Amino acid sequence: MEIRNICVLGAGLMGNGIAQVCAQAGYQVSLRDIEQRFVDNGMNMIRKNLGRDVEKGKKTQGEMDSILSRIKPTLDLKDAAGDADVVVEVVIEIMEVKRKVFTELEGIVPAHCLFFSNTSGLSITEMAAATKRPDRFIGTHFFNPVPVMRLLEIIRGYQTSDETLEIAKEWGKKIGKEVIVVKEAPAFAVNRLLCSMINEAFYALDEGIASAEDIDKGMVLGCNHPIGPLALADMVGNDTLLHVMEGLYRELGDKYRPAPLLRKLVRAGCYGRKTGKGVYDYSKK
Ligand code: 3HC
Repeated sequence: MEIRNICVLGAGLMGNGIAQVCAQAGYQVSLRDIEQRFVDNGMNMIRKNLGRDVEKGKKTQGEMDSILSRIKPTLDLKDAAGDADVVVEVVIEIMEVKRKVFTELEGIVPAHCLFFSNTSGLSITEMAAATKRPDRFIGTHFFNPVPVMRLLEIIRGYQTSDETLEIAKEWGKKIGKEVIVVKEAPAFAVNRLLCSMINEAFYALDEGIASAEDIDKGMVLGCNHPIGPLALADMVGNDTLLHVMEGLYRELGDKYRPAPLLRKLVRAGCYGRKTGKGVYDYSKK
């Protein structure tokens, strides 16, 4: 099966990055969200990222224009997915919302279309069961910032076919990613480890073990991490992080209990960089 048209559902932090790397690889992409401002923000982010590459001489203006010309922003689901060979779902991390989106898509997409979900940790099998194509359903988990991070974590659901897995692996390579294949498990391989560490950093901060700055400095200088866990939480989004921890806690028990401070920040709307405030304050930067 040849992939030509890709529909990305969700133009937020991850969705716009996925649309960009797909368009860079030569695919025709439709980028769909539910409000004009989300679509506009997503396209602006893509323009900004590509513009930075042009300034650095990594791309020409012509290349940037041609990448942008392959991305069609839209609010209309039928327009976005009607001729899709693949739909990459990047909507909010709530199982019922995702299942509803996939059920709706069933009546829109061509019969051969594959469903890829960029969930941070929800069950691929459970989502796939809401569709008539569980064999053509697979998890494709990207990392933020998508154009920079080299990994694509591919997750097989219970009924995912070998053929779907092979197509997803090839696609991952074509969009410039290194692929790992993992079995379905809560939060998969990377987020199970990464989010647990970040959650622990929230406990350490709440217990007054060290300041946020020193916890981050400790992990950067002591462990060679590119960025400290609390700064990373703000980058990924504390809301997303809480969704992942809730899932781990629900499925694997108390060891993964979300830190009360993380919960408090999310309740206060302090999601991180995207809201201007998280563990750190970005409003004046
Ligand atoms: N979009 C696109 N490109 C970006 C970017 C963004 N948001 N932020 C930085 N970059 C690019 C820069 O342009 C620069 O490119 P260059 O090498 O061509 O000059 C390069 O990345 C390095 O950026 P900077 O020099 O400005 O800054 P840093 O050296 O601090 O690197 C970083 C930034 C690459 C984001 C680095 O801090 C990092 O690796 N952080 C950890 C990221 C991480 O762990 N991501 C995974 C999160 S978990 C996840 O996403 C899963 C989810 O399910 C929760």
